[in-house]
Amino acid sequence: MKTRRNKPDNRRKADLPPRAAARRESPAGSLPWRLQRILAHSGLASRRKAEDLIRTGRVVVDGRVVTELGLKLVPSDHRIEVDGKRIASPESKAYYLFYKPKGVVSTLRDPQGRPTIFDYWSRTQIQERIFPVGRLDWDAEGLMLLTNDGELAQTLLHPKFQVPKTYRVKVRGIPTLDSLRRLQTGTWLPSGKKHQAEWKMVKTGLDRSWLLITIREGEKHQVKNMCAAIGHPLMAIKRITLGPLSLGRLAPGEIRPLTPKEIRALKSDLSG
Ligand code: URA
Repeated sequence: MKTRRNKPDNRRKADLPPRAAARRESPAGSLPWRLQRILAHSGLASRRKAEDLIRTGRVVVDGRVVTELGLKLVPSDHRIEVDGKRIASPESKAYYLFYKPKGVVSTLRDPQGRPTIFDYWSRTQIQERIFPVGRLDWDAEGLMLLTNDGELAQTLLHPKFQVPKTYRVKVRGIPTLDSLRRLQTGTWLPSGKKHQAEWKMVKTGLDRSWLLITIREGEKHQVKNMCAAIGHPLMAIKRITLGPLSLGRLAPGEIRPLTPKEIRALKSDLSG
């Protein structure tokens, strides 16, 4: 589902433009889906592979082997097993990629009444109770993963897994190679921790530079603080990747479900 673009703005919820286009079907809703689609959506296999699983008698619905393609079911009403193992209920697993615009808080509610990321999907037909994995600052933009898969979210955020996150940043001035190397060897941050980053210079202007910075932790204001620590204050920041996920062509305010391939990539990265 590609949704209509929502304009980044500072208006309050009531004034915001019409939300993303309705999804015609929802695995958490009451509309039936074809069995192969349910299997693919669960992240188990591609649609083609799911068809093979059905044809070869490996799929059991409510205790009965189903070999015909095209059987339509409301996923939450049935017990679906593949090779004797129940598939994850689509209702309990939903994954969306969201482009958080600048000037929006990445929480579900804001006591100060500023636009929140929740405004961007509350008027879609997304029925799952999804929440953001991690945060982006109010003035940051870019990729956010929204899910109701708490286990995956915790794993993604856990420092032990060192999930890479890449940001395209604009900084004041033109850093010397020495100061960039400090990013690599590690900078001390206000938290009292020392963190390293990978960097790649994209281009320089007269008095500013554009870089790609990759970090593996998710400390608050981490990139901002790292840039400040090397004497080049951050002017703009956009997250473009999270693990195997990329922002791609998503525009500010857009939200789309992850593809089964992306879900598989995410899970296999975390299990490896
Ligand atoms: N680092 C920051 O400084 N801000 C963000 O929003 C994300 C990473």
